Amino acid sequence: MIDVHTHVVPRGWPDLRAVTGSDGWPWLRIDGEREAMIMVGEVEYRPIGAECWDAADRLADMAADGIDRQVVSPTPLFFGYERPAGEAIKVARIFNDLNLECVAAGGDRLIPFCQVPLQDPDAACRELDRCLAAGHAGVEIGNHVGDRDLDDAGVVEFLQHCAEVGAPVFVHPWDMPSGPRLDRWMARWLSGMPAETHLSVLAMILGGTFDQVPNSLRLCFAHGGGSFPFWLGRLDNAWHRRGELVRGRSSRPPGDYADRFFVDSAVFHPSALRLLIDTVGEDRVMVGSDYPYPLGERPAGQVVRQAEFLDEAQRAKLLSGNALRFLGLA
Ligand code: CO
Repeated sequence: MIDVHTHVVPRGWPDLRAVTGSDGWPWLRIDGEREAMIMVGEVEYRPIGAECWDAADRLADMAADGIDRQVVSPTPLFFGYERPAGEAIKVARIFNDLNLECVAAGGDRLIPFCQVPLQDPDAACRELDRCLAAGHAGVEIGNHVGDRDLDDAGVVEFLQHCAEVGAPVFVHPWDMPSGPRLDRWMARWLSGMPAETHLSVLAMILGGTFDQVPNSLRLCFAHGGGSFPFWLGRLDNAWHRRGELVRGRSSRPPGDYADRFFVDSAVFHPSALRLLIDTVGEDRVMVGSDYPYPLGERPAGQVVRQAEFLDEAQRAKLLSGNALRFLGLA
């Protein structure tokens, strides 16, 4: 079984204020041999454990969950898309090189994905190329760059480059809106993240991105594509009945694009998994857990292993076959 959605937080990154000359970057407060706190300024952002940086812990958890291989992606907090590109380039290089160190002990069981300074498409392409040469197998991007979504000309240029060099792209929601209604109950993660992903799938369809990138682009949306699969019918209806407002640059109805991307299986309920398969197809859903974060699925892959409606051929696709194709390994 391959888990395509996991995160790393390396230890021992340098003082990013010294590296970039600007304030407000995350830093790690070491709270013990196996505990640390990601800090943003003086604010405690997220407590993390050794499984975030220690391959031995990660491999032990994989063994316990029956996972053979993991895609190990950055944690979006460190993307820095809102920063001047020169700063984000330096930080991306640091974290990408540290990710390779983190996964080294796992051999080919841990598959590193890199981050890129997406606010600067040329620099993003260069960093991707550098990372692919250094051992990364693909790239994780945030679902937007400030007010620019995945139909932004620069982002499209980057995605075209990914298709050209055969790099798989994992799209992760991040930088969610905040405010009094969202800054409680983890609402930014519970309703904000699925809405962010939904909006970015819309941008790729209605903004014409899928019409501008080749079919060969292998792209996966996290968290089962967010709210999109549930609301595709509403979108199709709007495209036909309010086309003057909705069609944008899309050449075909939204449902025609539903087989252009992969999604992970981090939806928890078998009924939601069934909807995913009905929407994007049994060749487009892959196990993804969001390990090691607490909103992720443990044991990883449980909903796929336990879903009674899957026959064994379908289950095999979701457990590994589709991921091998996404990664370009089959
Ligand atoms: Co995640």
